[in-house]
Amino acid sequence: MILAIESSCDDSSIAVMEIKRKKLLFHKKISQELEHAKYGGVVPELASRLHAEALPKILQETKEFFPKLKAVAVTNAPGLSVTLQEGVMMAKALSIALNIPVIAVNHLIGHIYSLFIEKEEIKPMMVLLISGGHTKIVNFNGIENICEIASTLDDSFGESFDKCAKMLGLNYPGGPEIENLALKGNNTVALPLPLKNSPDIKFSYSGLKNAIRLAIEEQKYKKEDIAASFQQKAIEHLVFMSKRAIKKYRPRNFAIVGGASANKKVREEFEKLSKQFNFKLFYPEMKYTSDNAAMIARAGVELYKKGKFTDYKHLDVMPRVEFGKC
Ligand code: KG4
Ligand code: ZN
Repeated sequence: MILAIESSCDDSSIAVMEIKRKKLLFHKKISQELEHAKYGGVVPELASRLHAEALPKILQETKEFFPKLKAVAVTNAPGLSVTLQEGVMMAKALSIALNIPVIAVNHLIGHIYSLFIEKEEIKPMMVLLISGGHTKIVNFNGIENICEIASTLDDSFGESFDKCAKMLGLNYPGGPEIENLALKGNNTVALPLPLKNSPDIKFSYSGLKNAIRLAIEEQKYKKEDIAASFQQKAIEHLVFMSKRAIKKYRPRNFAIVGGASANKKVREEFEKLSKQFNFKLFYPEMKYTSDNAAMIARAGVELYKKGKFTDYKHLDVMPRVEFGKC
C-alpha cells in the first residue's frame, strides 16, 4: 500500500491505496473553503496553519495501515509553497519513522490521474485541465510522457470565476456560485471573446474579468445576467482554443479534469464537440474533480511501479513547475 498526502492549496487530504489492485482503502479530505470564504480567496498563511491541524488528525485514522506501507506519496509541486510544505514535512516524518521511500507527485499529474482512480490508465489522451491555479491543454501518453499544448497567459479559468464572483458579491469559491446564478440569467451582456484574433492556441481570462468589472460599474445589468454572460464567454473561449488543439492533434480520447470540470455547461459544450470531432470524452467522478489525495495516490502508484522514489533529504517543494512543450 501507499499513503498519499495532498496540501497544495486549501484542501487537506490523505488517501491509502493498494498498489497491485489500485484499490482505494482510505480517503478523507477536510476542506478549508468556509475559513477562506470571508476573505474572498485563499489566504496562504491561514491555509498552512489549518493544514497543520487537519493533516495529523486525518493521519491518526490511517495508523492501522502503517505496517503495510511501501511508500509515502506527496504533492510537492505546483501550489502555494507554505501549504505544500505542510504535506511535504509530514511525508518526510513518515519516511523516517516507517523507513519507507517518498514519491514526489506533481499536482497537475494528480488531476490527470483523477480519471483513473481504481481504473487502468487510458492513453493517449488529450487533457484539458481547468482549476483554480491552472488552465492547460496537454497531451498525455503515460506518467512520464506529458507535454503542454496550451496554457494561460494570465488568470486561470477557475480563478476568473472566483474573481467575478467576488466582484458580484458572491461567496468563495466562485465557480459553483456563478454557475448557479447563471441558471437564472440570460446572456445579454456583450463581452469580448479573448484572443479571438491571435493565431496561437493559448488562454487569457484577465480581459474578460476587466469587462465584467466595467459591466458591474455601469449598473445597467442584473447580476444573474452578468453571471450568465460571463460563464458563456469563459466557456466559449475554452471551446474555441480546445477546438484548435483538437483540429491540430485529432485526439481519439479527450478528458476534462480539475475543480472546474464539475461545471455542467462546460460538460455540455464539450459533449457537442465530442460528437462533432468524434472523440471519446472523459471526466473524473464528481467527488474527484476538486483537490484530493486519492488522485495523488493513484499517480503515486504509477510512479511506484516505475521506481520513481525521492530521498526525503532531497525532497523540496516547487511552487511552480512546467511541462515541456509538445
Ligand atoms: O482543482 P481545484 O479544486 O483546485 C486547484 O487546483 O486550483 O479547483 C478549484 C477551482 C476554483 O477556482 C473554483 O471556483 C473552480 O475550481 N470551480 C468551478 C466550479 N466548481 C469549482 N469553476 C466553474 N464552475 C464550477 N462549477
Ligand atoms: Zn487542483
